[in-house]
Amino acid sequence: MVFEKTIEEVINENYVYARALHYLGIDFFENSSRKLVEVCRERGLNQQQVIKNFYEFDSSARCSFKELSSYPIELLVEYLKHTHHIFIKEKLPYIVHLAKTYENPALRDLMPEFVEDLIRHIYEEEDTTFKYIHALHEINKGYEKAPISRLIYFEDFSLKDELAHHEGEDELGAIRTLFDLLENNNLHGRVLLNELKAFDREMIYHAAIENQILFPKAISLEKEVLKKITSLSKLN
Ligand SMILES: [Fe+2]
Ligand SMILES: [Fe+2]
Repeated sequence: MVFEKTIEEVINENYVYARALHYLGIDFFENSSRKLVEVCRERGLNQQQVIKNFYEFDSSARCSFKELSSYPIELLVEYLKHTHHIFIKEKLPYIVHLAKTYENPALRDLMPEFVEDLIRHIYEEEDTTFKYIHALHEINKGYEKAPISRLIYFEDFSLKDELAHHEGEDELGAIRTLFDLLENNNLHGRVLLNELKAFDREMIYHAAIENQILFPKAISLEKEVLKKITSLSKLN
């Protein structure tokens, strides 16, 4: 029975449970040798709630490439925005918390820089690429009364340049160099390493969705919209 195990044993089984416990107010590294049942009792946590949290954190919903390819572009953008939100509001704060409480100066120094770069990337992406796609979508649907003036706003923006730039980016590159330092470490180091590796995989997957599904869809939408605008201006 999981509740009879120590927190360390529970987390050795699955490091994701450390995050689930964090959201219930329990930091594993402050309680690692205590039994889960005792800590839950002390915090007034219901066992069913704990099991539910373990399950939910473990089965994080992720859409397949195939499924996402079939999404209309505006839905795909909503999905990516939602993922950004989860990165900024949930995943990063937890990783930062783990890094701050972990005795490793190299990691502590690199962390703020990495988080800042990533957040900047996300906001820039939403303010340029996603905004442009939204404008294209509205024009294509006929919701925009002044399509040309709407597009003039994006005069200096090029989807192809943005894609080339995006393909060359590697946000976790610097952090990845520290993975070796965290290998074969204590429980705290191992949980942090696993979280960083999982986040790295997720970022790679996220960028691949943008590069291989979003940008191609946006480029063909742009072509369609430009064709419509040219034929409209010929009519006038
Ligand atoms: Fe993104
Ligand atoms: Fe991106």
